[in-house]
Amino acid sequence: MKIIVTKDYDKMSEKAFEIMSGVVKSNPRAVLGLATGTTPLGLYKLMTADCKDNGTSYKKIRTVNLDEYAGLDITSPQSYVYFMRENLFKGLDIPLENTNIENGKAADAEAECARYNALLSELPRDIQLLGLGSNGHIAFNEPGTPFGTQTHVVKLAESTVKDNSRLFEKIGDVPTSAFTMGPKNIMQSKKVLILAYGENKARAVYEMVNGEVTESCPASILQLHPDCTLIVDEKAASLL
Ligand code: GLP
Repeated sequence: MKIIVTKDYDKMSEKAFEIMSGVVKSNPRAVLGLATGTTPLGLYKLMTADCKDNGTSYKKIRTVNLDEYAGLDITSPQSYVYFMRENLFKGLDIPLENTNIENGKAADAEAECARYNALLSELPRDIQLLGLGSNGHIAFNEPGTPFGTQTHVVKLAESTVKDNSRLFEKIGDVPTSAFTMGPKNIMQSKKVLILAYGENKARAVYEMVNGEVTESCPASILQLHPDCTLIVDEKAASLL
């Protein structure tokens, strides 16, 4: 794993942008695996500014997102599809039909997972962007998820519900399950770019980089990826 430590969040986002825009510029038809959360927001701002100011085009780019809450409608501001449209897609020239995410309202969850796995095989990713959960989760793969798992429905860990409740009116509104790509799908991307910032990620960063490769820390599987870059600010790197 290649590790880049930056002074702060903004510098982390700039470094991430260098890598992401490198992929987009070298292949205007690239497939980007994208993530939600607070972590990629700075990167997404730089991508939309670059499209607007420098004319970098996303017309032929395709995207696949990691995960989506189960039960939330596309119009719910807390859904990840809404998040992606607001924070990235509406600032790019990408046609929405080129963007993909699990359908959180799917009546047949198993069929939805199978559909998404088939889609991921049809769209091999050039890069997969990831954030990191404070318990070491990637996407919504909680500790204990077998590494061989593909897209599935997961019951969220209590700590994840608590961490994510800041984006909901009250903790009782946070969905308790979600659709997520599995560790196996994540590892299939050609490149992986994982970002983390802030003190509350320091322990998870340490375990991911220096701990053993174990299903109790889902992110530790990235030690086995042949082209993975981790960009962290000084606070998240404080235990390294
Ligand atoms: C959620 C998402 C993850 C994300 C994590 C960290 O649980 N499913 O994909 O990486 O939160 O979020 P944040 O970037 O807001 O710390």
